[in-house]
Amino acid sequence: MITYDFDLALREATALYQQEQIFLLVDENTRRLCLPELQKTLTIPEQHILCLPAGETNKTLASVQHIWDFLIRQGATRQSLLLILGGGVLTDMGGFAASCFKRGIAYVNIPTTLLAAVDAAAGGKTGFDYQGLKNEIGLFSKAAATIVYPAFFETLPIEQLLSGYAEMLKHALISSPLELVQVLAFDWNAATLDWQRLSEILSRSIDIKNYIVEQDPEEHDLRKTLNFGHTVGHAIESYALQNGEPILHGYAVAYGIVAELYLSVTKFGFPQNYFRQVVSFVTEHYGKPVCPCKDYDRLISLMQHDKKNQSVGEINCTLLRNVGNYQLNQHPTREEVLDALDFLFNQ
Ligand code: GLY
Repeated sequence: MITYDFDLALREATALYQQEQIFLLVDENTRRLCLPELQKTLTIPEQHILCLPAGETNKTLASVQHIWDFLIRQGATRQSLLLILGGGVLTDMGGFAASCFKRGIAYVNIPTTLLAAVDAAAGGKTGFDYQGLKNEIGLFSKAAATIVYPAFFETLPIEQLLSGYAEMLKHALISSPLELVQVLAFDWNAATLDWQRLSEILSRSIDIKNYIVEQDPEEHDLRKTLNFGHTVGHAIESYALQNGEPILHGYAVAYGIVAELYLSVTKFGFPQNYFRQVVSFVTEHYGKPVCPCKDYDRLISLMQHDKKNQSVGEINCTLLRNVGNYQLNQHPTREEVLDALDFLFNQ
C-alpha cells in the first residue's frame, strides 16, 4: 500500500510486536539515506539492526546466513518481526531469510527504490542468486505488510526511476488502454517531476500487480503475464552483464517489451498505434540498445535457458493480442525471435 504518512504506517505494521522483538535489515545506502526517517517513529537498538553490503553481487547464501546468524545472536523468536528497508535485493533476501527462520517469522517490506516498490516488494517472491543464476533458490512467502513511502524515491537518480517505470509500463500494457495512456503521458522531461502524479500512477500499478498475485500467487497461469517483456529483457540483461557492461534491470525490460510487442504485432495483430507509441516512449527515455547481429544467437541461447521455460531449448513468453489481452505460454520460433531482435536493434 502507498502511504504518505510513514509514521502511521510503521506504527500500524509493528503494533502487535514488543519493541525487543523487532529487528531491522538495511544496506549501506538505506542506513544512510532512509533509516533516519524510520527512526523518527521507531527506536530500534543498534544491536537489532543488521547492515549488509548493497548490490546484486551480495544477493548470496552467505548474506542470508548472515541474517540468520544475526537473528539467532540477538535472540529472535517465532514472535519476532523483521523490517526490511531497501531495494529488491534486500527485500528478496530478507523475505527469504525471515520465511525460513524457525519455520517462518513475519516480515515487512519497506521498499526504497521505485523498482522494488512496484515489483520485488510486492507479491511474495523471495530468494537469492545461486551458482550465477538469478533467484535460483527461493520461495513464495507473503510479507505481513509492504509500506511504500514515495518520499524515499525523490532522491533517486532519474535512471533508477526510469528502471522502475519500465515495470509500470509493463503493468499498464497487461491491464488496460486507459492505464497505458496515463503511463505514456507522464512528463519525464519536466524540470521538476510531478511526484503527486507519479505516485498516483505507482499506486494503480501496485494495485494491478497485487490483483494478479492474489488470483495466482504461485504463477500457474495469470501471474505469467508479469513476465511480459522479461524473456527478451532477461537475456539482454545477462548479455550486458557477461560483456562487462551491466545495464539496469528496467532498461533491459523496456527493450524486452519492444521486442515482445513486435512479436505480438506479427503473431497476434497487436494494434500498430499502441505499438508505435510504446516504441517511441522507450526510444526517447531508455535509448537504443546495442547488439551486433553476430551475437543474436547468444541472446537466443540465453532465452532458451530462462528458468521460466518448461522444455529444454524452447523459448517461452507471454504475448499480447491487445492492451490487457494476453496470450500465455507462447513459443516463437528462432526466426521469429531473430526478426524481433533485428527490429529492436536496428529500428
Ligand atoms: N516479477 C514478476 C513477479 O513478481 O511475478
